[in-house]
Amino acid sequence: MMSLSRASLVSWGTSLGRAGVVSVSLWLEPATAGAQVPGTPIDLRCEYLTNPLGLDAPRPRLTWRLRDSRRGAAQAAYQLTVGTDSLAVAQGKSPGWASAKVASAQQLVTYGGGALRPFTKYYWRVRTWSSLGARSSASQVASFETGLMSQANWQGAWISDTRDVALRPAPYFRTTFEVPRGLKSARAYIAVAGLYELYINGRKVGNHRLDPMYTRFDRRTLYVTHDVTPYLRPGENAVGVLLGNGWYNHQSTAVWYFHEAPWRNRPAFCLDLRLTDTANKVTTITSGLNWKTALSPLVFNSIYTAEHYDARLEQPGWNTAEFDDAKWKAVMPRAAPSARIVAQAMQPIRNVEAIPTKALAKLNDTTYVFDLGRNISGVSQLRAQGPAGTVLRLKHAERRYPNGHVDQSNIDVHYRPTDKSDPFQTDIFTLGGKGQETFIPSFNYKGFQYVEVTSSRPLALGASSLTGYFMHSDVAPVGQVQSANPTIDKIWWATNNSYLSNLFGYPTDCPQREKNGWTGDAHIASETGLYNFDGITVYEKWLADHRDEQQPNGVLPSIIPSNGWGYEWGNGPDWTSTIAIIPWNIYLFYGDSKLLADCYGNLKRYVDHLEARSPTGLTDWGLGDWVPVKSKSPVELTSSVYYYTDASILAKAAKLLGHPADAAHYSALAQKIRAAINAKYLDRQTNLYGSGVQTELSVPLYWGVVPDELRAKVAANLARRVAADNYHLDVGLLGTKAILSALGENGQADVAYRLAAQETYPSWGWWMANGATTLYENWPIDAKSDISMNHIMFGEIGAWLYKGLGGIKPDPQQPGFKNVLLAPHFVAGLDHFEASHLGPYGLIRSAWKKNGAAISYTVTVPPNATATLLLPVATGQAVYEAGKPLAASLGGIRAVKATGQLQEYQLVAGTYQLDIR
Ligand code: BGC
Repeated sequence: MMSLSRASLVSWGTSLGRAGVVSVSLWLEPATAGAQVPGTPIDLRCEYLTNPLGLDAPRPRLTWRLRDSRRGAAQAAYQLTVGTDSLAVAQGKSPGWASAKVASAQQLVTYGGGALRPFTKYYWRVRTWSSLGARSSASQVASFETGLMSQANWQGAWISDTRDVALRPAPYFRTTFEVPRGLKSARAYIAVAGLYELYINGRKVGNHRLDPMYTRFDRRTLYVTHDVTPYLRPGENAVGVLLGNGWYNHQSTAVWYFHEAPWRNRPAFCLDLRLTDTANKVTTITSGLNWKTALSPLVFNSIYTAEHYDARLEQPGWNTAEFDDAKWKAVMPRAAPSARIVAQAMQPIRNVEAIPTKALAKLNDTTYVFDLGRNISGVSQLRAQGPAGTVLRLKHAERRYPNGHVDQSNIDVHYRPTDKSDPFQTDIFTLGGKGQETFIPSFNYKGFQYVEVTSSRPLALGASSLTGYFMHSDVAPVGQVQSANPTIDKIWWATNNSYLSNLFGYPTDCPQREKNGWTGDAHIASETGLYNFDGITVYEKWLADHRDEQQPNGVLPSIIPSNGWGYEWGNGPDWTSTIAIIPWNIYLFYGDSKLLADCYGNLKRYVDHLEARSPTGLTDWGLGDWVPVKSKSPVELTSSVYYYTDASILAKAAKLLGHPADAAHYSALAQKIRAAINAKYLDRQTNLYGSGVQTELSVPLYWGVVPDELRAKVAANLARRVAADNYHLDVGLLGTKAILSALGENGQADVAYRLAAQETYPSWGWWMANGATTLYENWPIDAKSDISMNHIMFGEIGAWLYKGLGGIKPDPQQPGFKNVLLAPHFVAGLDHFEASHLGPYGLIRSAWKKNGAAISYTVTVPPNATATLLLPVATGQAVYEAGKPLAASLGGIRAVKATGQLQEYQLVAGTYQLDIR
């Protein structure tokens, strides 16, 4: 089975092309491809994960793709087999659930068999029938394993070492246990309030980082499942746990009062280690009062600031069976942090990329500045050797002062330290004096490019002493852009860097100053994320966080998760429309309505609240066009447009999910809001909204508020406005989301491209020209406030490259790219562009190249999908396939209609080489 792991991508993050931009070749055919019959189902996933462990979902979703490059390939039928006996499943005879042969093109099916049992591995297989011939082909066998499924199945007790929230060192916990002969498999289920590292017999289990993901701990706590079979041995074994504070016990003090969170307590955990022998006898080793605890050498840890480690306090072998724990203390029983302990079913955070030091400056005998050459979220690992007690301070920053020292003044502005013991983004590593020593934080990450290392004694360090690790939720790349313009390619790369830097189990605004789950930043960036990364599991988790945070009256906080901050500021519809926009985008990109259904009641309550407080249809609740270049647009205009968007999405969701009365009510509401906006802001004489600045025209255009018959006129006004602004942006966060598509989709694609490719201030290209490797928070590179250098809030351009140049969009009528909408724009000033996206059905590719007045256009429509292609064909030109007029070509492409210079075609699956000449 071909899995979409990073390993199946060629040279991601390694080969540097022009402009230092990563060039990526997409999705190599797996080595076994030749052996497979066309039409074979591949990429089997359960809950969007490959062979996951520890699922709680009572009816998990099963998905697959087809390997089939034949023109017109489609799935005529499928049959699923699910059972606990892998051999029987492989032969298609399961005593579990076998669906009938279903005549359907569906590749997303919800498990429909009997109740799943907890702690059970299920195998599954799908057989499909192709529309091209009677032969069927079966997939290889995949699996999913259930976890606890119910609170009642936990055996362990919640334990900690104390309730003292001010105690700084992180606690160790340990116990030993016997593993009987004939062990077949072992699973660790660990639920934690805080963060953890789990060790068995001295080895750290797994490669996840910062587990479990951040939730509102007092409403929902996540547990993680590990396969620990390979860590165990017959006889005596030891299990050790190191607990970190994370967001649970926030000891650093900043303006959001996380140190006053209602759930705050000393971290605690509950562990069930389930051993199954070959006779299927189960023994469960649990956390409980037989465990012992001691303080660790991790003398301080803060998710927000840094970590302090004193190697002199190490207790070698603390997590092995041989260790003498006679001096360790008794543990303390604790209550579970919430009544809902649920599975963490999502891509974990990992150290995804190792970044070597690019340049090292030695400022003096005790001061070195390491430069990674790019801005990342993550940690640095330091190797050093020196006398015991030597103190190394690793100060992380995004920029430097002219004198070479690092400068944190752009990112430490919201930090309110009470003393000097917890410096911002500064790890403190005290050497144990035992030769070469290595330090890497366990429970913290930062945003940085530079690390200034100062030591209390002169120390010899070299470039190889420090390595950066780019950490983020390890979502697989599913998109690629490549063009004839290196600036565009670099903007795409930098946008992805900022997107990933802001994905840590929930989307954040910036990885350094805040790490807050700002709702506005996240819905703006959600399409950028979904075109480029397989992010559904993170968004589904984050929308569950929304459901936890919503107040009974429907109100959501501006940051999610939240300790209570944000219900009073910044949470108007321009930000918290995440509850509508993200489930809707997931539906469009994955063709999966589950998230929409899960959030339906919440969205309804949210819109009802807006309706109650905005009887006229207009609302000025919101922050407005955040961090604009210069012009301010009325908050009432932009917030009302988001209110309209929410009501429209709710109406569509109601229709889809079978609530006709709601559909009627909310579409009438949407029309009322639209009419109110147009009555107040649209001048039907001039076709301008408000004073006609960029955001005022873009936002109503993009979100469909402009009356159809006026769209082209308003867009022409917008194009004139942009020309008057000398083809430079004059927008903030809300305008950035809208402007490129508002132009491109309404006849002004050349103007959109000019704006997107602009290289002087203010523009994305201006940042690139000044060496940016991520996106910034403010347009001027020398602004005085709002100056994080790794913000995703201006990141819509990453999605627009796919939509506006490649022209790849999901079709709301057949979501999940079942039918792909293709409307490439061969814009002036660009000779070549290509975009690929790996959607639920397979790879979609849209690539064009100019040759004088002729265009060569290559498109791939994945198997079992179709496409509607809108092709710009100039008067006097015609379309050929592989050199032949379309009528004589291979078939599969059908002319539908022509409107002016736009020709519409309908395509079946396959790759088409079209020439327009
Ligand atoms: C964050 C933004 C966020 C904004 C809302 C800032 O501090 O960094 O990205 O959306 O506040 O006001």
